[in-house]
Amino acid sequence: MEKLMICGGRPLRGTVQISGAKNSAVALIPAAILAETEVVLDNLPLISDVATYAEILEGLGATVTLAGSQIRVDPSQLKSIPMPNGPVKKLRASYYLMGAMLGRFGEATIGMPGGCNFEPRPIDQHIKGFEALGATVTNDHGSIHIYAKELRGAKIYLDVASVGATINIMLAASRAKGSTIIENAAKEPEIIDVATLLNAMGAKIKGAGTETIRIEGVDRMRGCRHSIIPDRIQAGTYMIIAAATRGDVLIDNVIPKHLEALTAKLQEMGVQIEEMDESIRVIGQPEYTSVDVKALVYPGFATDLQSPMTTLLTQAKGVSIMSDYVYSNRFKNVPELLRMGAKIRVEGRSAIIEGTKLNAAKVKATDLRAGASLVIAALTVDDGITEITGVEYIDRGYDNLVQNLRDLGADVWRETLVAAE
Ligand code: EPU
Repeated sequence: MEKLMICGGRPLRGTVQISGAKNSAVALIPAAILAETEVVLDNLPLISDVATYAEILEGLGATVTLAGSQIRVDPSQLKSIPMPNGPVKKLRASYYLMGAMLGRFGEATIGMPGGCNFEPRPIDQHIKGFEALGATVTNDHGSIHIYAKELRGAKIYLDVASVGATINIMLAASRAKGSTIIENAAKEPEIIDVATLLNAMGAKIKGAGTETIRIEGVDRMRGCRHSIIPDRIQAGTYMIIAAATRGDVLIDNVIPKHLEALTAKLQEMGVQIEEMDESIRVIGQPEYTSVDVKALVYPGFATDLQSPMTTLLTQAKGVSIMSDYVYSNRFKNVPELLRMGAKIRVEGRSAIIEGTKLNAAKVKATDLRAGASLVIAALTVDDGITEITGVEYIDRGYDNLVQNLRDLGADVWRETLVAAE
């Protein structure tokens, strides 16, 4: 185990390349299961969640080749093997194996997903979708077993516009008999990315990115080659880093449209932003105005940028309010920020943040985005070294973080954690 050491206080300058999106990759890799021949994914993020998925698919009999930012998955020899334990437990997004295995084999047995459990994250809408498609779902000591003699298309209204449930239903319904309609579907860009891959594999999906998705089931799906969309959350994190350190950073390989809600909020605070076709330049300023932010489903302000943005708001003059309407209690980073001198009070779904200077401390990342928020906080500290443990969470979602920060001029390194820590 390692810890991150950060000696902050430097304005970060330069260019950072954004990799493919984690939340697309962890859906696209299992989607490959539905094909009968090899699927090739480019622009792959080099993160531990991707390595875990490769391990899971190999365990199922697929041939997986990881080379640089490309993964090749040949699922032709894949078998229907129950996965009550093992690597599925390390990964929240292992729930996509339910939809993909159900589509391919008509059955799946998967241990309840692990990963970033910053609050209870139910999967009732996924299960409701599988049942609507004709599957029987049982929970046996924390393992979900799903079986369908035949999957049949259905009309499914999601109670909440869940990203995971929308994708899981698309995966299974691609191989169902007849038409499926998902109403109140999630509209995140990752949904469009998955639909694009599935269509290239032979599926018939229309309406991805809107609240109504129509899927015409097909009998067979084939391999193809697909490039993963840029990671908007990673990009947003670097935008916030540029602003927080009063730096000047060009964030390259992004789709600026995916970051509109963040861009608008940063501009409202006084950050200078220039948008190009595939890059965004963020120029920090000496002072920022406080703002109120509401994290919502896409195209609203992303909940995954809520924790990083909370840190930036500690650098604004006056009092800001950050509210999260996707997760009710995603503020596990706040006690750690308090150790660094932040003035934040959590009330229900909101954090009330008073601008102040932060100081170095020993802190712990408790989930991926909480970890990112601590990295940003540490980069603003101009006196002393901040030590961040729980780095394994950060490694789940930030490709090449330490080297990227160093290339921008940050003083950051990793150290091995001694047992007592
Ligand atoms: N929800 C339910 N029932 C369900 C599913 C979701 O009540 O069956 C609720 C959740 O509790 C939550 C809301 O619906 O309050 C939204 O959850 P959603 O299903 O959309 O989230 P998810 O698919 O589990 C993905 C991302 C998350 C991101 C959310 C929201 C992946 C692998 N994960 O999770 O990303 O926060 O969408 O945008 O795509 C991260 O990257 O750090 C991360 C946690």
